[in-house]
Amino acid sequence: MSPVLDLLITRGAAVAAWAVWATLAALPLARAGERALMPADTPAVYLQECGSCHLAYPPALLPARSWQRVMSGLAQHYGSDATLDAASTERIGRWLQAQAGFSRRVREEPAEDRITRAPWFLREHRKVDAAVWKHPSVGSASNCAACHVGADRGRFDEHALRVPPGLDARLQRAWKD
Ligand code: HEC
Ligand code: HEC
Repeated sequence: MSPVLDLLITRGAAVAAWAVWATLAALPLARAGERALMPADTPAVYLQECGSCHLAYPPALLPARSWQRVMSGLAQHYGSDATLDAASTERIGRWLQAQAGFSRRVREEPAEDRITRAPWFLREHRKVDAAVWKHPSVGSASNCAACHVGADRGRFDEHALRVPPGLDARLQRAWKD
């Protein structure tokens, strides 16, 4: 991609994502969480293909470089083969670049290009016991929808949380405050 095009797309993404992430960068996260993170122009192919094994993650939760690596490594995708036809890969990849996160908290590339390894994620979930992530009704931290009722619509606010079934009182601590 030409440097100019690259700059245009980055700037475009900045404007589009700003509405969502401005609050996250500057205000308590609770406020940002109340906004839906799935952009209005989310392509059906993204929901279909990238939402078949797990949640179709909101693009603003990873920086552009991370999405680029995810999309160019689909053959070895976190232990799975997630390859797609070239046209879908191209379509999804371009959209992810345009909608990628850019805010101060998101632009740092997390380990393994995982949302769940980002410092902001770990901070927001610090009260969730390690045993909760591995509980059979959760599986892993990547399974946002186990706890965030509106996750498929890009909603992650504290008012749309549920306790996954089977957690004892001690493990429910993070939901209590
Ligand atoms: C095991 C349950 C669980 C899973 C899985 C989970 N979360 Fe959470 N999440 C919580 C809880 C509980 C809180 C509230 C923590 C607190 O207030 O101390 C929270 C808080 C958040 C917040 C802050 C919301 C606010 O209004 O302050 C965001 C954003 C968030 N989660 C995103 C995600 C994303 C994205 C994923 C998946 C990649 C995910 N979470 C997976 C339980 C979970
Ligand atoms: C064949 C199943 C499959 C498909 C299709 C798939 N993924 Fe995944 N993906 C996985 C698995 C498995 C994980 C690891 C989940 C875990 O650690 O619990 C994962 C994890 C991820 C993560 C990291 C989540 C975290 O922990 O923060 C991202 C980002 C991601 N996928 C993006 C995509 C995108 C984009 C697509 C579409 C191009 C896609 N996935 C399609 C299986 C799939």
